[in-house]
Amino acid sequence: MEFSIKALSPEAAKAGCVVVGIHSGKELTPAARRVDQAARGALRKALGDLSGKTGSTLLLRGLPGVAAERVLLVGLGARSEFAEAQFRDAVRAAANALKELGAKDAALFLVDAKIGSRALGWNVRHAVLGMRDAFYRFDQLKTQKKAPEPALDQVFLPLSSSSKLQDALAEASATADGAALARTLGNLPANICTPAYLAAEAAKVARQFKLGIDVLERRDMEKLGMGALLSVTRASHQPPKLIVLRYSGGAKTKKPLVLVGKGITFDTGGISLKPAAEMDEMKFDMSGAASVLGTVKALAAMRAPVNVVGVMPACENMPGGAASKPGDVVTTLSGQTVEILNTDAEGRLILCDALAYAARFNPEVVVDIATLTGACVIALGHVASGLFANDQKLADELREAADDAWDRVWQMPLWEDYQEQLRSNFADMANIGGRPAGCITAACFLARFTRKLRWAHLDIAGTAWKSGREKGSTGRPVPLLVRFALRHAGRK
Ligand code: BES
Ligand code: MN
Ligand code: ZN
Repeated sequence: MEFSIKALSPEAAKAGCVVVGIHSGKELTPAARRVDQAARGALRKALGDLSGKTGSTLLLRGLPGVAAERVLLVGLGARSEFAEAQFRDAVRAAANALKELGAKDAALFLVDAKIGSRALGWNVRHAVLGMRDAFYRFDQLKTQKKAPEPALDQVFLPLSSSSKLQDALAEASATADGAALARTLGNLPANICTPAYLAAEAAKVARQFKLGIDVLERRDMEKLGMGALLSVTRASHQPPKLIVLRYSGGAKTKKPLVLVGKGITFDTGGISLKPAAEMDEMKFDMSGAASVLGTVKALAAMRAPVNVVGVMPACENMPGGAASKPGDVVTTLSGQTVEILNTDAEGRLILCDALAYAARFNPEVVVDIATLTGACVIALGHVASGLFANDQKLADELREAADDAWDRVWQMPLWEDYQEQLRSNFADMANIGGRPAGCITAACFLARFTRKLRWAHLDIAGTAWKSGREKGSTGRPVPLLVRFALRHAGRK
């Protein structure tokens, strides 16, 4: 799907469908009013009992005096309550209606809406991301496709073009591509999306954009002394990979932003085996790594002026004769020892070695992204990702980027008081801290490996995928990470 910014008038636009907004109380937006005037009141007449409720739609065909064959009215809710969420809902509703239509092109007149103090670039980004998100499909494993490919391939954003808006458009298209990649990797089952598959996907991205790539194999991990990562992969027949992808779009002297993503391609829990119900969802346990790959791809595609290193430790967590056992003590790359009290707390084990490894890149900032704890899902549900940081300025930057990207986070404390829950009688620390504050003690564990770094951790266990009927990967938090990298480099 192609997007272009083009000054158009709603009555004269020669598009398969013109999309205009209407607030509740039958209050037409300026574009809707122009259509109505050109059609000599035919639009108003056709409204009937349309409520204008956010996300409601009404399709009108063959309005007199209007060049477009179809006009799609989209409810925006009460004008006084119109804000970011309503805009995004309206875009999504428009996208879903357009999917059914069979129009080849459409002009989205919703895009000029005034949203608080947001600049128009925000509208452009969210229009593109919302449309692309709604048109995403994952049917490559079905032999009987449910529906034909939607026909829509051109979307006009009727605004007068500027370099700022063109940048917003390029950013959004690249972000949508990156998020779609992350989403597809999340949706692929663990028998296809193995650590080797992730490494091959990263190599594809590296080839496409001429990025640096290194893949550490088991023997490299052994030589380095990554005892924690190795303890997780022990019982798996899939060789582990530690994938490192480098994009250098910034000044040579600029220290990189290092993104570290959890890449457990399947989490059975190991010897601390998970219950059978919904265990299939643990194929998404590599969503952190997938979001790192999607983010690096997006930044490279838009030639962002940033230096970024993506570090993706990837392996399976399996039970078996060679598996780690509760009580085992391992030595991490940092030299600290860990008593594995629960083999299902494996994410922190692969991350602690990857974070220690990340220090080699002399990072300006390190952010890790992980589907780390069920406790985070209990705390924040599927709306916000958990944010933890050892640097408040970094936390603030991430939160602002998350609001901007509407890929939101909520900060949790990382106080020393929680550290004592990780006490072990037999090693420097245990890998679990009991039930209370489970997502915080997981973050506290990671904090012990990042003391010398400016570091933040995103727990995306609740946001990287949806359960239930709409089960599937979301592509989050690629939009947040891309926005953060750009804002951090000075682009607001
Ligand atoms: N991958 C899971 C976290 C998870 C659980 C994500 C549910 C999404 C939904 C992680 O490896 C895990 O198993 N965590 C344990 C930690 C516990 C053993 C301390 C958990 O959250 O139950
Ligand atoms: Mn686990
Ligand atoms: Zn896991």
